[in-house]
Amino acid sequence: MSAGINYSEKIPNNVNLSEDRTLQRALEQWQPNFISWWDDMGPDGSTPYEVYLRTAVSVDPQGWAQFGHVKMRDYRWGVFLNPGEKDRKIHFGDHKGEAAWQEVPGEYRANLRRIIVTQGDTEPASVEQQRHLGATAPSMYDLRNLFQINVEEGRHLWAMVYLLQKHFGRDGREEADALLQRRSGQEDNPRILQAFNEQTPDWLSFFMFTYFTDRDGKFQLCALAESAFDPLARTTKFMLTEEAHHMFVGESGVSRVIARTCAAMNELKTDDAKRLRAAGVIDLPTIQRYLNFHFSVTVDLFGADESSNAATFYSTGLKGRYEEGKRVDDHELRGQTYKVLAVQNGALVEKDVPMLNALNEVLRDDYIKDSVAGVERWNKVIDKAGIPFKLSVPHKAFHRNIGALAGAKISPDGRVVSEAEWNAKKDAWLPSGEDRAFVASLMGRVVEPGKFANWIAPPVMGINRQPVDFEYVRFN
Ligand SMILES: [Fe+2]
Ligand SMILES: [Fe+2]
Repeated sequence: MSAGINYSEKIPNNVNLSEDRTLQRALEQWQPNFISWWDDMGPDGSTPYEVYLRTAVSVDPQGWAQFGHVKMRDYRWGVFLNPGEKDRKIHFGDHKGEAAWQEVPGEYRANLRRIIVTQGDTEPASVEQQRHLGATAPSMYDLRNLFQINVEEGRHLWAMVYLLQKHFGRDGREEADALLQRRSGQEDNPRILQAFNEQTPDWLSFFMFTYFTDRDGKFQLCALAESAFDPLARTTKFMLTEEAHHMFVGESGVSRVIARTCAAMNELKTDDAKRLRAAGVIDLPTIQRYLNFHFSVTVDLFGADESSNAATFYSTGLKGRYEEGKRVDDHELRGQTYKVLAVQNGALVEKDVPMLNALNEVLRDDYIKDSVAGVERWNKVIDKAGIPFKLSVPHKAFHRNIGALAGAKISPDGRVVSEAEWNAKKDAWLPSGEDRAFVASLMGRVVEPGKFANWIAPPVMGINRQPVDFEYVRFN
């Protein structure tokens, strides 16, 4: 198999799709349903727009992308896998040392299907969550970035649907259909994971989401890229190269909001939230509260701190740890322990549990380390402006809804607090209705090339070396 992608077929691919007629037919039947889902749930009102998008032309690390103006519904969604590694071996769990699987072993079919469906479900969900944001884009540059992310999440759905259709027969086809039927936030048929049923109502939420929640995607994909099921490993590796841009949009987006706020603080010589809001920028404590919300909702996505499923997924070789190959242990983890948190006698305590059962927590902790690094980069922007304020990620026990800490009342600095204290302070810790209404009040559409909404600084540079005032979207 080559790294190049065949665009001459109805479904662009680098998996020799035309050699598997049954699969090709199944995917070609699914394709119009995907397009009609896109028409219904993709970016609202965007059908006539031509957007300066990158399209994958190869899975080579160098130069896989080609840029040009395309209508999003004509985007060439397809199936792209990283090249296989010759004689790849399973490198963790009970099957360590055996050849990686090219087909799904019967005994792991149900678990693998569940893993793929759960990952696949998040992809269209985020498109649905973001579908109204185009109406309030702070610039044409940002609008283009939103759309780029949206089409790529659509492609990630294709990536998972390919695996389902190719390897899971009739069940796979049914799951592929169901992925187009669930809807983010819909009561009777919601998306599988809670963070993907929350709203993304404004652009500060969008940037926080792409920073924190797309980063959850990165960690899940990294864990799946280790899988003994080789097609899953190869698919997720290519998805990861697309994911990097999503997190860039989040990190640079928040950074630009902060830069604009700091500039206004220095102009007005004030840190008074009221005065800053009157000047049309988002005060730093509000940014901190949004951060607290998105961080806590996202760390829940890693699942229960102790989980026998996590142990099974690892031992059977379905899902590894982040950077499994770089770790120096036995890659079986039997008899090892890991610390998880619990509330005991009104205090947070650590307890040792079997590491295999704590693998969700292991991945969560790796994710947290990675998240903190970007927050430190945001702090540099504040620091450079000479403002004595520091953003921080809240304690991982704060505002949790999954696992042993679900519903516990923990402050952002990790103290167990009373119900009364929680109620008195929650509006200082999480975005209040008033915060959200204020941020919403700033959202207005700015789409003249090179113009930016007042609450956000322009980016340092444009996309693909184009100028910042490039016509990234033609509205027609
Ligand atoms: Fe994705
Ligand atoms: Fe993403």
